[in-house]
Amino acid sequence: MEIINRKQRMASIARKLRRESKTVGFVPTMGALHEGHITLVKEARQMSDIVIVSIFVNPTQFAPNEDFDRYPRDLTADAAMLAEYEVDYVFAPETSEIYVPGFSTYVYVDGLTETLEGASRPGHFRGVATVVTILFNTVRPDLAFFGSKDAQQVGVIKRLTRDLGFETEIVVVPTVREELGLAMSSRNAYLSEEERAKASIIYHALRDAKLAFKNGERNASTIAQIVEEKIASEPLARIDYVAVVSNDDLEPVEKIEDSEVLVAVAVRFGKVRLIDNVVLNRKQ
Ligand code: PAF
Repeated sequence: MEIINRKQRMASIARKLRRESKTVGFVPTMGALHEGHITLVKEARQMSDIVIVSIFVNPTQFAPNEDFDRYPRDLTADAAMLAEYEVDYVFAPETSEIYVPGFSTYVYVDGLTETLEGASRPGHFRGVATVVTILFNTVRPDLAFFGSKDAQQVGVIKRLTRDLGFETEIVVVPTVREELGLAMSSRNAYLSEEERAKASIIYHALRDAKLAFKNGERNASTIAQIVEEKIASEPLARIDYVAVVSNDDLEPVEKIEDSEVLVAVAVRFGKVRLIDNVVLNRKQ
């Protein structure tokens, strides 16, 4: 496994791999790797000849009041973990390699980015879309792997991939959960032991939504209420939003009919903001 810091070197390896007709599977991350990331890597390993993982804590997707400075960083531990899973290249650039001096070009995905996470974290998706575009341009992957916990991010990346004409297939991998049901996230490391145990209420609330749907409930606001009430029953939880929206365009729905519906939540436990979701009516 080679660790690459320079964008030019990463791009030149990517060109060579394309000339050799190797399928490149790419897993973009911000490091602080956990089992969720490893699941993406394993999927990439199965589906591609060459696996490239990027580790880059992207400053432009954090608002000034967010946790950019204290975001967990440990390249040595991350690299050791990736070596175990037969990753071929780790791309870990400095900020100035991605955001060159005088940088002033941003990617903005209209429509999908104003609601949910976009409403709570203005500018977040502009940062995500910009860095993913730069990374895709550098790595030119055949396949790129993302976790479904970040459902809106997946929608934004699928849209930019299509709109900007990247020849990359976006592979979405199911959320990996801790024993009690909490979705894996690098930010779980900030939770106290008590908060971590109590945060599994989010998973239980989403499971209740799924059960209500299975039992015939089709009213979106009733589903939202079921989720809200369950989460609110936990005194440590502060709800940011509970949304029941179309999984396609993230527009609110009233009645759940044939198409896929995303039940998405953001909840604070202490200083930590957690997101999770479930899809009702999942096709395939
Ligand atoms: O999901 C993440 O870890 C980040 O948003 C991503 C896709 C690596 C872009 O910085």
